[in-house]
Amino acid sequence: MTVNMLEVRNVSHWFGTHKVLNNVNITMPAGQIAALVGPSGCGKSTLLRAILGTHPPRKGEILANGRPILRPSRDIGIVYQHYSLYDFLTARQNVAFGLMLDQTNLPQRFIAPWTWWPLRRKHLKQADELLEKVGLAAAAKRYPSEMSGGMRQRVAIAQALIMKPRVLLLDEPFGALDEATREELQLMLLQLYEENTQAMARNEVPRYTILIVTHELNEAIYVSDRVLGLSQYHTDGVNGATILYDEKAPVFRPGDPRDFAQFEQQKDDIRCRVFDPDTNKQHQELVKVADHIAPK
Ligand SMILES: Nc1ncnc2c1ncn2[C@@H]1O[C@H](COP(=O)(O)OP(=O)(O)O)[C@@H](O)[C@H]1O
Ligand SMILES: [Mg+2]
Repeated sequence: MTVNMLEVRNVSHWFGTHKVLNNVNITMPAGQIAALVGPSGCGKSTLLRAILGTHPPRKGEILANGRPILRPSRDIGIVYQHYSLYDFLTARQNVAFGLMLDQTNLPQRFIAPWTWWPLRRKHLKQADELLEKVGLAAAAKRYPSEMSGGMRQRVAIAQALIMKPRVLLLDEPFGALDEATREELQLMLLQLYEENTQAMARNEVPRYTILIVTHELNEAIYVSDRVLGLSQYHTDGVNGATILYDEKAPVFRPGDPRDFAQFEQQKDDIRCRVFDPDTNKQHQELVKVADHIAPK
């Protein structure tokens, strides 16, 4: 059975008279990692903010696991290009912070510390497990100032994952990192996907449903099982960008060689259908919606 974790239905958005999103539709089954690409300024971040619930769309609706998203909630997590860690907390304290806020309150900690301490221990234990998952078990006690950019970004991802979001949004998450670090973090996404595959083999609902915005086409194809192209280059583009490209991407396992040469054809196709202002055809004809692509 396929569970739809994310549904974006007929979403349009505009700022004043500036129309940005034009009838965007996306359905993501649980366990999918989809990459979202598109020309700079086409509305990718606007779409993520709508999904996050901080800036609901002017038109249309968005559902996570079947429930409408009307405001920010634990259902949706996000990681931005610039990590958002607290400088005065260690890696594990940073990761545990969201749970602590969510499950305890200040009076409880003072009035009934015996209920707070075991909870605190539980949160820190969960934080350690998450740090292990993102390959940072050894850095649990380090402060952000003692970590590299790549390590801090891993902590930010662990911080988002500990809240067990239904959908995790990544907005250009590796954009500020050097190439080698970027590779390590891409590998981390492949590992999460591998966990999804194993969960599905056990007939469980896979845990990680991820929508990642990236401007790097190799990265988009490598880390995802589906590439979505958002673009304003279509006949109704004056009313904003819509999904012009929706295709499967080859699935890589963590041990597979990272060979980008085989992506040339797909990249050309994406450049033509998403990034080329002259490809101004009827977008209905262009889109082959691959809505229910279950992870392989
Ligand atoms: N708060 C806002 N007010 C007005 N215009 C905005 C606002 N946020 C984004 N925009 C405009 O919407 C368009 C899409 O922006 P954005 O979603 O950031 O694009 P992308 O992430 O694809 O580069 C841009 O033209 C941008 O200037
Ligand atoms: Mg953006």
